[in-house]
Amino acid sequence: MSFSAEWLALREPFDRQARHAGAIRRTVATLSGRPAVMIVDLASGTGSTLRALGSHLPMHQAWRLFDNDLSLLARVPPAANVHVQPLDLVTDLEAALDGPVDLVTTSALLDLVSADWLERLVTEVAARRLPLYASLSYDGRVEFAPVDPRDAAVIAAVNLHQRRDKGFGPALGPIAARTAAAHLEKVGYAVEMGDADWVIREADLVMQEALLAGWAVAASETGEMPAEAVAEWLLSRRAALMANRSRIRVGHVDLLAAPSDARRADRSQSNSTSSPSR
Ligand SMILES: C[S@@+](CC[C@H](N)C(=O)[O-])C[C@H]1O[C@@H](n2cnc3c(N)ncnc32)[C@H](O)[C@@H]1O
Repeated sequence: MSFSAEWLALREPFDRQARHAGAIRRTVATLSGRPAVMIVDLASGTGSTLRALGSHLPMHQAWRLFDNDLSLLARVPPAANVHVQPLDLVTDLEAALDGPVDLVTTSALLDLVSADWLERLVTEVAARRLPLYASLSYDGRVEFAPVDPRDAAVIAAVNLHQRRDKGFGPALGPIAARTAAAHLEKVGYAVEMGDADWVIREADLVMQEALLAGWAVAASETGEMPAEAVAEWLLSRRAALMANRSRIRVGHVDLLAAPSDARRADRSQSNSTSSPSR
């Protein structure tokens, strides 16, 4: 599945605003005391996680950004401490984690992957006792204002569409973050999760247009709703948007998972961070 640079640029400010501050604080705390860190970002796109997290880390950082889309990697701003590498995470996940690594990050990836691939990620991360910051996993919650009676049916169809194969096998979609947390806890990780919802306001016309069109296509493709009902829903939602009355909240979850021994060390060094809400 490919993602356009335009779409990633459009969503990045909403992602940045949504990221759970507690999960970022915990990520920073997990690395505290180290003079320099090596961070591997999986499915980096154009480098959104580097831009969001990098400024919070006080120590020297080196980043390795992996993605299978060269046109996205080509848009990562060049820097001496940032190395970009084309790589297919389906075939070469293990290679991405090779060498000295202190933290694995990813954003907007887990909901695309299959149960098998997620287990593989957890196994590989746990074998190396690495902390994992996995942000912005879609969790299936979408709230509209004003409400349209067809909203629930459209989003139910969209959430079915999210389970389709996105290149990693049948996707986990909305259950990805919860599934990841369960696997990570099983291998002895302490997991903290927090809501990281997009809050999309009346004035965010381009973002709303893009989401509504994308959801209408996805809902139609599932065949769960008659095409006319989807078209009517889209007309009604766009009318609210044009009348400057439409707001949308899209549920995402951020997760920071650290090997329990690392968390104990982190707690003894810093007791000033608060826990994310879930
Ligand atoms: C939703 S985008 C998120 C990009 C970036 N992390 C962000 O938050 O802006 C998903 C990313 O996964 C990458 N991707 C999808 N399948 C992949 C694969 N098999 N191997 C490596 N990257 C992949 C896409 O190219 C895209 O950059």
